[in-house]
Amino acid sequence: MGFKVAVVGATGNVGREMMNILAEREFPADEVVAIASRKSLGQEVSYGDKTLKVKALEHYDFSDTDICLMSAGGSVSKEWSPKIAAQGAIVIDNSSAWRYDSDVPLIVPEVNADAIEGFSKRNIIANPNCSTAQLVVALKPLHDKAKIKRVVVATYQSVSGAGKEAMEELFSQTKAVYQIDEVVPKKFPKRIAFNVIPHIDVFQDDGYTREEWKMVVETKKILDPKIKLTATCVRVPVFVSHSEAVNIEFEEPITADEAREVLRKAPGCLVIDKRENGGYVTPYEAAGEDATYISRVREDPTVDNGLMLWVVSDNLRKGAALNAVQIAECLINRKLIAAKKKAA
Ligand SMILES: NC(=O)c1ccc[n+]([C@@H]2O[C@H](COP(=O)([O-])OP(=O)(O)OC[C@H]3O[C@@H](n4cnc5c(N)ncnc54)[C@H](OP(=O)(O)O)[C@@H]3O)[C@@H](O)[C@H]2O)c1
Repeated sequence: MGFKVAVVGATGNVGREMMNILAEREFPADEVVAIASRKSLGQEVSYGDKTLKVKALEHYDFSDTDICLMSAGGSVSKEWSPKIAAQGAIVIDNSSAWRYDSDVPLIVPEVNADAIEGFSKRNIIANPNCSTAQLVVALKPLHDKAKIKRVVVATYQSVSGAGKEAMEELFSQTKAVYQIDEVVPKKFPKRIAFNVIPHIDVFQDDGYTREEWKMVVETKKILDPKIKLTATCVRVPVFVSHSEAVNIEFEEPITADEAREVLRKAPGCLVIDKRENGGYVTPYEAAGEDATYISRVREDPTVDNGLMLWVVSDNLRKGAALNAVQIAECLINRKLIAAKKKAA
């Protein structure tokens, strides 16, 4: 008997990708239900070669649902995840609502799958922020090899990380620039077309943004609380895939060749690193792919035991939907969930 899976936020960027990935990976689901807000009731979304009619969250009964993939934003998750969990479904949430709760595991299966066991306290498992997910996939094997002391990262984050309206804004502003029309920022604080914006999420008192804070706190929770990290998060006019320039300082010596060898064997990582024109991965090439790509591996001669990397991944897949589905697979593989008996 297979599982009943609900996708909340099924009309959104991440939700649609969740439906694709469930179908692509032949997730053992007997039934997949697409759920969104009332305004999307009856709208159609695809799941493999099927078309599903969207149901409204507020009237949905989750008592025979096994797994709920939640991707409808923080405030919806704060209100609904505990209610859905209380009805007996395990919630895997994509928002930041539960990531920092000590009773909620924050999981990237390639990095800290064992921490999943703690889910039963709340019946909720959190998915990290997209920029953290790809970073920790690349850091984990290097940390195991030479112990990371400090990380300095600059991100180049695509507009899809801010939702479907943000993608529409890049498209319409780009069109407006070519048509010599007025460019009006709505979703982003400044024009995003032909520009970059060093500001994602809200500002904190210390001058960092919440997005930058998330990378620090989430890396500590997933990988190692001793790792020091500082980030600058930047929005760039790319539709899909986040890129990161990463500087790492290790406790122990590690050469670029050793790092490449370790990363080549690491789960979820793909090293493309030829020191020639085009011998690296760009966000355009990573879109639609599952891997975390690592390029431009080189030693940093300005610190002891330093390395530089370029890390690229599809933020809607490894940064969100794929990671959530991998968490669900992890629950099944570890026999932490059994399909509920459904009414005939
Ligand atoms: N995009 C990424 O790279 C990424 C990565 C990691 C995490 N996340 C997180 O994933 C979540 C979704 O992101 P997204 O990019 O997919 O956003 P999005 O494209 O704006 O989609 C939002 C989804 O949430 C649904 N929704 C909104 N309010 C709702 C309500 N009251 N009840 C039920 N459904 C509601 C929307 O349904 P309607 O169409 O009916 O409004 C839509 O399906 C966010 O929390 C985001 O922070 C995103």
